[in-house]
Amino acid sequence: GPPGLETQWREIDNLNQQQLRAGDSWYLLDKRWYDQWKEYVHAGDQNSSSYPGKIDNTELYEDLESYHLKERLSENEDFVLVPAEAWHKLLSWYDMMDDQPPLERKVVDLPSTVKVEVYPVEIYLCLSSNMESTVSACFSRADKIHAIHQKIRQHLNVSETAESRLWMRSTDTSSERLRNLNMTVLDACLSSGMTVIMEIRNADGTWPTSRPQIMRNSADEDSYRGPPGVCGLTNLGNTCFMNSALQCLSNTPPLTEYFLRNSYLEELNFTNPLGMKGEIAEAYADVIKQMWSGRHYSVVPRVFKTKVGHFASQFLGYQQHDSQELLSFLLDGLHEDLNRVKKKEYIELRDADGRPDQEVAEEAWRNHLRRNDSVIVDTFHGLFKSTLVCPECNKVSVTFDPFCYLSVPLPVSKERVMEVFYVSLDPTAKPTQMAVADVFNHRFYRIYQADESLSCILDRDDIFLLLVSGCVDQEGEEVVMAIYMRERSHYRDYGSGSNSYSTSLFGHPLLISVPRAQCTREDLYQLLLKRLASTEEGQSASGSTDTNSQDATDGDQSAGVEPSGKEEEDEDEDEEEEEEAASCAQANKRLPGRRRYTERQKKALFTIQAVNSNGTTERGMGEADGGFSFSSQPYIAIDWDPDMKKKYYNENEAEKYIKHQSMDVPHQQITVQLQECIELFTTVETLEEENPWYCPTCKKHQLATKKLDLWSLPEVLIIHLKRFSYTKYSREKLDTIVEFPLRDLDFSGFLLKKTVNSTEPPCRYDLISVSNHYGGLRDGHYTSYARNKDNGQWYYFDDSKVTYAREEQITSAAYLLFYQRQDKIRQPSVPPPVPSSSQPENHVSSQTHDGMDGASSCVSMETD
Ligand SMILES: *[C@@H]1O[C@H](CO)[C@@H](O)[C@H](O)[C@H]1NC(C)=O
Ligand SMILES: *[C@@H]1O[C@H](CO)[C@@H](O)[C@H](O)[C@H]1NC(C)=O
Ligand SMILES: *[C@@H]1O[C@H](CO)[C@@H](O)[C@H](O)[C@H]1NC(C)=O
Ligand SMILES: *[C@@H]1O[C@H](CO)[C@@H](O)[C@H](O)[C@H]1NC(C)=O
Ligand SMILES: *[C@@H]1O[C@H](CO)[C@@H](O)[C@H](O)[C@H]1NC(C)=O
Ligand SMILES: *[C@@H]1O[C@H](CO)[C@@H](O)[C@H](O)[C@H]1NC(C)=O
Ligand SMILES: [Zn+2]
Repeated sequence: GPPGLETQWREIDNLNQQQLRAGDSWYLLDKRWYDQWKEYVHAGDQNSSSYPGKIDNTELYEDLESYHLKERLSENEDFVLVPAEAWHKLLSWYDMMDDQPPLERKVVDLPSTVKVEVYPVEIYLCLSSNMESTVSACFSRADKIHAIHQKIRQHLNVSETAESRLWMRSTDTSSERLRNLNMTVLDACLSSGMTVIMEIRNADGTWPTSRPQIMRNSADEDSYRGPPGVCGLTNLGNTCFMNSALQCLSNTPPLTEYFLRNSYLEELNFTNPLGMKGEIAEAYADVIKQMWSGRHYSVVPRVFKTKVGHFASQFLGYQQHDSQELLSFLLDGLHEDLNRVKKKEYIELRDADGRPDQEVAEEAWRNHLRRNDSVIVDTFHGLFKSTLVCPECNKVSVTFDPFCYLSVPLPVSKERVMEVFYVSLDPTAKPTQMAVADVFNHRFYRIYQADESLSCILDRDDIFLLLVSGCVDQEGEEVVMAIYMRERSHYRDYGSGSNSYSTSLFGHPLLISVPRAQCTREDLYQLLLKRLASTEEGQSASGSTDTNSQDATDGDQSAGVEPSGKEEEDEDEDEEEEEEAASCAQANKRLPGRRRYTERQKKALFTIQAVNSNGTTERGMGEADGGFSFSSQPYIAIDWDPDMKKKYYNENEAEKYIKHQSMDVPHQQITVQLQECIELFTTVETLEEENPWYCPTCKKHQLATKKLDLWSLPEVLIIHLKRFSYTKYSREKLDTIVEFPLRDLDFSGFLLKKTVNSTEPPCRYDLISVSNHYGGLRDGHYTSYARNKDNGQWYYFDDSKVTYAREEQITSAAYLLFYQRQDKIRQPSVPPPVPSSSQPENHVSSQTHDGMDGASSCVSMETD
């Protein structure tokens, strides 16, 4: 058996400290199960109700047939990773649910990171002679192209001696030759969803792709001439977050002009230790040059994506990310790659010490420029003033800090709409006691205490509000029991007289309050019968018709569920639980739906079992009937035989619920003004416990008050609307509509620095681009609106597709806003295009770019 709980914890915890070593195996483990296990071992009680049961990764699989891993799971939220040794220990102690395959993943050594590769790269393989027939295979990013070559040979039955070459193709038109088989999947920029095509040399020595019919089919691409900058970006698999941020930057005139006129070449620094060896700036320059060449409908930012992944491994996978996170990384990377400062001196920061703001601010800015001086600083950096006041000694600390973008909060109340299931016992009964529970997978995942904050139940699974039912109004102590419904699947004869059988949970769990004195099996049985009958009331259980005519309530005391003494022995069910309840005439009389369960029943409808919180029966839990006390055991399972359940329990009916009118009202949309968000940004706040301020006078950490004020603003101001909130308990997205001006956003009211003379820049801004986010936290989609700097026209960028946009469209889903100061905005140099219809700009191409019209037309293989 497993060792003691403390030992279990120590052993696993020790193993979990292991370093990641390339080639090692780690295993994914459902976070819920793991937490439950942690709770269990920490409870220090072998018998505790927190027993986690068998290891259950059900929630991590897409389905229980292919056992494919769900997309976009995140570590420490959906799963935890444990090293192989820990996994094998847990497996030997707890066993695994059903036939679930273990989720083993390898540690890979990638540039700048060693990580467990939770999502390998899934690639389609095919032969150029038959591109309709593909097989998919998974590879590690650290695998060599050689491994792909081998896999194709194996899977597509290509002889070892055949001379071949490989091509890779993403969703766009072009195919690239994979010449170097020694290269890694990562370096070749292969990503999930791409296809690798093997071409086999003909007997006559020629290569098939030199034949005209699969020659390049991108004549239109070659001759395409469109407005510079009006160019889509191909989605490489969940990369819309990146495309959206890139479009916003691409449409920031001073930055794009800096790259187009090659100024970056003089400022690239390949050795700055804080930079990215110039690689980010070069890859970015390549994308921008292609986008502004006017020769592409759409560009594939694959090299750029790979470089970003090299330097920030969080962007390595193809999971969905946050466009603001990427933007922030990119602005930092570009800044350091292009930083003009050669020698970064150490600068001691001086406190304001009562000096005038103007003086302190100028000093702070000068100091900033002594370390940070680049096109990014020139374009995007501003300065804000932060004032901290100690609540104890009133010490005031003033600093001026540069910023790259403003992250503004949304002024919304903490209220949110939450769906709550109210499980009534009886529509006429007055509620006496209620409980709030998080129900997941037919179990109580958590039953909340009355004094718990509502914030704990945000973002949980289905929330149930349950009436806690009691049978008899009686003085005395009551025990609240959780009731699970289980169906038996089959009996297992262990030959030892053990009464184990296999069960599966179904339906909604219930809570029931029972006087401690009535916690015998018989009383419970009657109580539950009554409880179920009231749930079932009014439903037409099958098999009940022939009993309807009889009125069972008048005095037919023995008609109830047969007491065990009268029950015929059933060879199949010689279990102790079957020795069921003696009839309870009183309860029976009050049982409205009772007749359904009575007359024809010669045996109990269900049996009762003590279980743990997971709904599983543990060894030693329900044995000796005599000495057993349910009162010490708050979890009970009602076990149904499949035929009984079918007859007397209508699952559909029982799980039906009535929607309250409030649910029909469309989700109330709250609208706020951007100016309100900026005001909120500058509102005095008190620091939180987790983030106190060290007061130099009191010489200790204090929950100071903090106020931010804008001091000076950059040429291009990026405003980040904090739509995503990540708290200890929840992650959620605020769908609040933020109204923002397209023109004349006036900051004069927000700026502390007063305009001294007329040569000071004005503080009015016009919108130049927007990054939008649609949908929820994980399944969202990013797009952008941007105004072309040359022709002044607004466009809508949705990955590879670009369409004209009208100004009225630019609303609601905004996540990042780019504003340019009016004095810097130049008039369009070319007349705006005349949209002939609502025909999208690159519409014609976007069809073929999405690769939907047949494999061959998308291939443009060159000859060797
Ligand atoms: C656990 O339960 C068993 C059987 O019910 C009992 O003998 C044992 O003392 C219990 N252990 C603890 C730590 O409560
Ligand atoms: C594999 O190829 C060989 C010769 O190239 C052929 O004889 C054999 O039938 C093929 N097998 C399958 C399963 O296609
Ligand atoms: C392939 O790469 C390995 C290590 O990266 C190197 O030792 C080997 O010589 C390379 N082989 C070829 C053919 O380039
Ligand atoms: C690059 O940056 C480093 C550190 O800031 C500096 O020492 C070096 O001189 C810079 N190189 C060039 C070519 O500017
Ligand atoms: C300015 O440079 C310093 C040191 O090089 C760095 O720590 C800091 O993050 C930079 N500031 C900004 C806003 O990029
Ligand atoms: C106006 O302000 C600018 C920048 O602050 C300064 O350079 C200039 O001397 C000022 N002119 C006058 C007339 O005060
Ligand atoms: Zn103080």
